[in-house]
Amino acid sequence: MYIVQIASECAPVIKAGGLGDVVYGLSRELENQGHSVELILPKYDCMRYDHIWGLHDAFTNLWVPWYGGAIHCSVYCGWVHGRLCFFIEPHSGDNFFNRGCYYGSNDDNMRFALFSKAALEFLLQSNKRPDVIHCHDWQTGLVPVMLYEMYKYYGMEYQRVCYTIHNFKHQGSAGVETLWATGLNQESYYFQSDKLQDNFNPFALNFMKGGIVYSNAVTTVSPHHAWEARYTDIGYGLGHTLHLHQDRFTGVLNGIDHDFWNPETDRYIPSHYTKDNFEEKAKNKKALRERLLLQDVEKPIISYIGRLDEQKGVHLVHHAMYYALHNGAQFVLLGSATESSINNHFRHEKDFLNNNPDVHLELGFNEELSHLIYAGADMIIVPSNYEPCGLTQMIGLKYGTVPIVRGVGGLVNTVFDKDYDQTKPPEERNGYVFYQSDYHALEFSLERPLKLWYNNPEEFRKLALAGMEYDYSWNHPGEEYVKIYDRIRHKW
Ligand code: ADP
Ligand code: GLC
Repeated sequence: MYIVQIASECAPVIKAGGLGDVVYGLSRELENQGHSVELILPKYDCMRYDHIWGLHDAFTNLWVPWYGGAIHCSVYCGWVHGRLCFFIEPHSGDNFFNRGCYYGSNDDNMRFALFSKAALEFLLQSNKRPDVIHCHDWQTGLVPVMLYEMYKYYGMEYQRVCYTIHNFKHQGSAGVETLWATGLNQESYYFQSDKLQDNFNPFALNFMKGGIVYSNAVTTVSPHHAWEARYTDIGYGLGHTLHLHQDRFTGVLNGIDHDFWNPETDRYIPSHYTKDNFEEKAKNKKALRERLLLQDVEKPIISYIGRLDEQKGVHLVHHAMYYALHNGAQFVLLGSATESSINNHFRHEKDFLNNNPDVHLELGFNEELSHLIYAGADMIIVPSNYEPCGLTQMIGLKYGTVPIVRGVGGLVNTVFDKDYDQTKPPEERNGYVFYQSDYHALEFSLERPLKLWYNNPEEFRKLALAGMEYDYSWNHPGEEYVKIYDRIRHKW
């Protein structure tokens, strides 16, 4: 099968979070299963060019119709760790992707509407006719809309679209000017409740809703979140739309790329280990302490790696830090915040705790350090308010770092409480789960592993090893996506 993925991220070259990991990991798995995969991405000025091999100008004259005129774009081609990627660069005074960051501009909806249109134009003009186009998140929600409303008339009527939603909170809200820009001309047609009209604001268009309504298959990134999105308010207003299209909507649990996330081969950690020489993990703990200037004492390290925002339960991250410090543990945080109040808060904490030898806060994005933390810490916390899938708990498990998570979204599908899980036999339980988002619930779930670490190290080791047994690779989810692609290819 010939599959083209259209997305705003692909790790490690463009990565703001898990979306990048998923786009890369799934593509690699599909290739391993014998399919032909290409990726279309924006050419950002701030992406990691050192991870692209052989970047060259492949298609210099892509004219993308825009506001009745056209924007001139170039398409560059290169390999990201073996994956064939096309990077779109618009030449326009708007500097669409030359802003020193991936997201966060006031005109993000226009930037990604243009990207979506340019991706389709590129397929059309370069005569690429994939069997399946796989789009991700709100940034590419307009791809299926334009494909079925415009491009099918230009000979692209056989392409099928699978649309994956990674985060319902960000849906891409836009005004009528998006229609004028992209050439989706009939305003009254698109501003209907069964088309792109936002479910909360009748004067706005919703890109993600467009993706749901027009795609042949819609997925989100874990089975539990697929349920939450329909039956709780975590669908952020799209629950009703998902109900209407539920025969096409399903949850596929993400995987993690075992080539990139593997303590046996990880290029960023000093000591490699497996279940059979687990004691080597201690050397990574020592290296982590040396690197972060933590004191070398008999204490467990609790870690947090992730974006610092409301979704991730920052109030609980903050509380866990002080709980750890007051209860005989060390705490390491690697996180980046886009919201200035959260950023300032953690900067202030960092200054305040500057001389404490048991804590380190690293604010910013640091891929290399994240690997050392996964390998060196004893536990990792994921106290999210909501979490469509979550990768850090799965990576933690692979590195024998015990996850302590809130029971929401994909965390429910991947972490099974050592003391209370009813679905797994004791030897298959792999972490700790709490449900309420208050301090008491969090403390109860931190107290248990800390006691175990101090009082029964052998049991703690067994728990970490049980986590390493889990196979959260892309093998299984890759097969699930192929089944979905097959189903939509043969359904008209
Ligand atoms: P989300 O996509 O919601 O941010 P996920 O758990 O799905 O959360 O994925 C987060 C990914 O980003 C993981 O690969 C994690 O290691 C990585 N990550 C998050 N924050 C940072 C950071 N500050 N530095 C390095 N890697 C990070
Ligand atoms: C989103 C979600 C996260 C998920 C990731 C990859 O950013 O917040 O839960 O793991 O996408 O699908």
